[in-house]
Amino acid sequence: MAFVNGYHHVTMSVDGAQEDYDFFTKLLGMKSVKKTVLFDGTTPVYHLYYGNETGDASTIVTTFPFRKPGIYGRRGTNQSKVIQLAVPAGSLAFWEDRLNANGRQARQIERLGLKRVAFEHPSGISHELVAAENDDRRPIVADGISSENGIKGIFGVAVAVFDKTSMDDFLVVGMGLEKVGDDKDAMSFRLPGGGPHASVEVLHEPNRPQGTWTLAGGTIHHLALNTGNEDNQLKLKAHLEGMGFTDVSDQKDRNYFKSCYVRSPGGALFEIAWSVPAGWTVDEPAGQTGRTLVFPPWFEDRKAEMVAGLEEFKWQ
Ligand SMILES: [Fe+2]
Repeated sequence: MAFVNGYHHVTMSVDGAQEDYDFFTKLLGMKSVKKTVLFDGTTPVYHLYYGNETGDASTIVTTFPFRKPGIYGRRGTNQSKVIQLAVPAGSLAFWEDRLNANGRQARQIERLGLKRVAFEHPSGISHELVAAENDDRRPIVADGISSENGIKGIFGVAVAVFDKTSMDDFLVVGMGLEKVGDDKDAMSFRLPGGGPHASVEVLHEPNRPQGTWTLAGGTIHHLALNTGNEDNQLKLKAHLEGMGFTDVSDQKDRNYFKSCYVRSPGGALFEIAWSVPAGWTVDEPAGQTGRTLVFPPWFEDRKAEMVAGLEEFKWQ
């Protein structure tokens, strides 16, 4: 059973839009792939997508900046804890220096046999740049970031849990991941089809308070695995429901991709998604995506009201 083929994207709720945009595009050198709004609920909130030049699945990090509505959450256990991006082996010293020079207090650490640079997003969410061997994705080159150092895309997400066992079952039996590491307080799993750089780490943290599950600034909301197509998505949904996870959501239209969501027993929200054929070019020309603020067809009549409710920021 392999209905998953690596990552699709990872998504978090952050604080200010400007600091988030500058963090991803200027400091980390990622490209703006799409600027739109949160499709759920009624409060206008940006939805900002970052990734490589062509916005390939497995390179996409997305954010909901919540400064204007002023909604903030609590980081804790039973929640995704760390966003991890893959960088070339040998680039960690470059990134440690670059991040520290920009006030991000980075330090090199090692966990589960992998060296990484740990630091925080301006909203306080933990991030790691992980030295990934044999990652054949092309690096994202930007001003001051050469191909020897450029980010390759998503490495994975670390999820904090009360109970390791139920999460182990969900990932292996439910999602079809392979367990590749077990280090007392941490386990690592590999996604099928994603290469050595597509990982979920599970951190045993039974003594921290429960983290927020709602969309709330300063917390990771979900991780999305790539099913590649609708057939795999619906088969995986049926498989999870057959295990008793009857709360897998109906398929939601995300304009550029289609998504189902399921709450894991370890608390973290998982999405299973596949890109529609036109992908990011549904509403912008190829090569020019992510440059203007775009709305899905069903928000046409709300555009003026939503723009008035959004935080102002400069994206040039
Ligand atoms: Fe998502």
